[in-house]
Amino acid sequence: MGPPGVGKGTQAAQMQALLGVPHVSTGNILRVAIQQEGSPLGAEVRKFVESGRLVPDGLMGDLIAERLERKDARDGFILDGFPRTLEQVAILDGVLGRLGMALDRVLMLKVPESEIVRRLSGRRTCPACGTVFHLESRPPAVAGVCDACGAKLIQRPDDTEQVIRERMKVYAEQTLPVAEAYGSRGLLIEIDGFGEVDAVRSRLSTGLERV
Ligand code: AP5
Repeated sequence: MGPPGVGKGTQAAQMQALLGVPHVSTGNILRVAIQQEGSPLGAEVRKFVESGRLVPDGLMGDLIAERLERKDARDGFILDGFPRTLEQVAILDGVLGRLGMALDRVLMLKVPESEIVRRLSGRRTCPACGTVFHLESRPPAVAGVCDACGAKLIQRPDDTEQVIRERMKVYAEQTLPVAEAYGSRGLLIEIDGFGEVDAVRSRLSTGLERV
């Protein structure tokens, strides 16, 4: 968990390799659908994602149930960007109950707001493979080109000043209560997300060892 741009996707992508379980990012799933021409899901969710509002809970619930029921998630998964509302917490409880699984930990990254603005304004992403770069902290070897697959990097349409403001507001209003809910279940661990990517990853690993 954590606010927009705090580094959830960057860290989850690395933890996926370390833990050998899939990184399930609802933001990535939605962006892939939006890019696919003729995708009914993409057409339905585009207006929400590009304006910084949340996609309706029912739709997200169907999507996460389908994803977590897949074979590759049988031994575990890293959720990134879900649940984001109290209704989604209840939906996830139901899905996990059906699968006979439980959350081990909820790790919440925190950084100062000025760093979030710096991270989001400098972010560049690969529309083809999803690799995330930053103009200063993680620049590609060749400017504007993805190191992993060679595609042209883009700035996400929801990384404009106005949409970032909306995403932060939605986070404060709808997602912070999720952190409180997991806090009261004794699952939440807050992690300092400021500093080098490797240093943050090491703090996250320490948090997981407390499982
Ligand atoms: P989503 O994609 O989940 O967006 P988000 O939560 O706003 O998070 P971001 O992807 O912007 O940031 P991040 O924390 O992953 O940071 P990153 O690692 O990229 O969701 C997008 C939209 O989809 C939502 O607004 C909503 O519309 C919809 N949606 C998704 N899930 C939903 C749900 N459950 N319900 C309803 N709607 C949903 O890092 C940011 C930058 O910082 C990068 O450039 C990176 O290189 C850099 N960086 C990372 N770590 C460091 C570091 N340690 N030091 C320096 N730079 C760093």
